[in-house]
Amino acid sequence: MEIDRRAFIASLGGTAAVCLMDHEAKAEALEHYMEDQLDQAVEARQGQPERFPTVAEIEAEIETRPFRRGAGSLFTAGRGNVAKLEPMPARPTLHDFFRMRFAPANHVLQSATRALKTGMSEEVILACLLHDCVLSLIKPDHGWWGAQLFEPYVPEKTAFAIRYHQTLRFYPDEQAGYEYPDQYYRIFGHDYSPPAYIEQTYKMLRNHKWYMEPRLVTVNDLYAFDPKAVVSIDPFEDVIGRHFKQPKEGLGFDNSPSAHMWRTLARPDSPL
Ligand SMILES: [Fe+2]
Ligand SMILES: [Fe+2]
Repeated sequence: MEIDRRAFIASLGGTAAVCLMDHEAKAEALEHYMEDQLDQAVEARQGQPERFPTVAEIEAEIETRPFRRGAGSLFTAGRGNVAKLEPMPARPTLHDFFRMRFAPANHVLQSATRALKTGMSEEVILACLLHDCVLSLIKPDHGWWGAQLFEPYVPEKTAFAIRYHQTLRFYPDEQAGYEYPDQYYRIFGHDYSPPAYIEQTYKMLRNHKWYMEPRLVTVNDLYAFDPKAVVSIDPFEDVIGRHFKQPKEGLGFDNSPSAHMWRTLARPDSPL
């Protein structure tokens, strides 16, 4: 840390005052002065608005990684190597997937907890609980992938909400209490604008009678990132029991249109 000698001496009352101090007192004064300067520097930085990356900066990072950003979280490790996964039971249920493949699932559990507390419909609560689970498998277009994964088992409104929450995340709705998230400036770049198909989807949704179903997922999404919150799937037993059609053969073995997606989630280490 660089010290401005003049400012330091002035802070002690000038040269005359410094001359009267013994060596130890000077050393101590210097230490306090440096601590203060450091605190001020940290405070100044904290007060500044966060600098968000540009789209170009984010693109420049592509070649710095051994994986693509769109890979599902089951397929990459944040740090070090991936862990060995416990094999799934022969007839896996939604609970088994939550416990063994979507875990810790904090984000979706927090989101659904908020929906439950604010008295939203059971279709919306279920949509909040499931809305990002497919990120374990794949990330781009996760609204569409997620809806496809769950469509055979959930009410139509729930699948609709999952499919379109992805689009509505890009568009604020003050009346509904949804702002554009800072997180999106961070992950897409501050100068990002969504592709044409997302804009067209948004236009379609604005005039759709079910607009509020995916919109409410985004409203809960915003508040769903508290690292200290302790959440569990237990409060959703009843909603799942009433609205999730668990196949008796187990997810992945019921020949539904998305059975293969469940099998891929169950065995992500399979080479083919
Ligand atoms: Fe999402
Ligand atoms: Fe989310």
